[in-house]
Amino acid sequence: MFPLVAQAQSAGFTLSTAREVRDTGFLQHLLPRFSLKHGVRITQIDEGGDVVIGHEGVPVFAGLDAIWHVSGPKVGGPALFTEWLLADIGKRTIHAFQPEGVAIFTAQIEDEGALPAAVFEGDPLLGETLSLRHCGRCHVINDTNRMDGMGQTPSFALMRTFDDWRDRFATFYILNPHPSFTQIADITQPFAAHLPPAIVPLEMTQGELDNILSYVATIAPADLGAPLQSQ
Ligand code: HEC
Repeated sequence: MFPLVAQAQSAGFTLSTAREVRDTGFLQHLLPRFSLKHGVRITQIDEGGDVVIGHEGVPVFAGLDAIWHVSGPKVGGPALFTEWLLADIGKRTIHAFQPEGVAIFTAQIEDEGALPAAVFEGDPLLGETLSLRHCGRCHVINDTNRMDGMGQTPSFALMRTFDDWRDRFATFYILNPHPSFTQIADITQPFAAHLPPAIVPLEMTQGELDNILSYVATIAPADLGAPLQSQ
């Protein structure tokens, strides 16, 4: 058993998409750039496969009069691929595909209502309690734990100012330093036997994370113009 990221680096996977997307040459642009960054090989096939870019799953880009979704396992290389598409670097790579000097696909799909519905399923009140319990030993969540945060750790209000806060919170468990001490039920791999967490582990479910996302959505982004102490 290896932690999520180590596992992802070795395991390649297969991928297919609709003919119209394939015909643009987009995958020849997209896939090698992901593989170069993460060392995960993707083999393109005509139909089926581990990962399908089609009409089901997580919405990742729009173009050719459709919103395109990624579906596949929520672990290993496929999960990493989805996170990469949703992160700034993936969005830029999508936009950079301009065979005739014009972008064919865009990652700006939030305005079309595709993303928020999926994210706000949780209960913000429960989310506040869970944030304080699970994240509050390091992050300042709100006034109730203002004194508990750890020096260099960004507050929730500060992280709320990031354009992609939603992606970062939704995937925090694969972003450092969290993988070494975090377990999301049925999503992350168990800790490696020889690498037990050095601190009390953070264990929760995807449903609890949805509640946290709903709570974070209600936090006012920090005023970056204000003095630093007040954030
Ligand atoms: C043991 C301490 C600790 C706990 C517990 C913790 N975090 Fe963090 N988190 C950190 C530190 C430290 C950073 C800053 C990492 C950096 O700047 O490289 C961070 C960064 C983040 C980031 C930004 C990551 C990025 O790369 O953009 C998010 C989002 C985040 N934490 C969410 C959470 C959530 C949600 C929880 C609770 C479910 C949580 N964290 C629990 C220590 C912790």
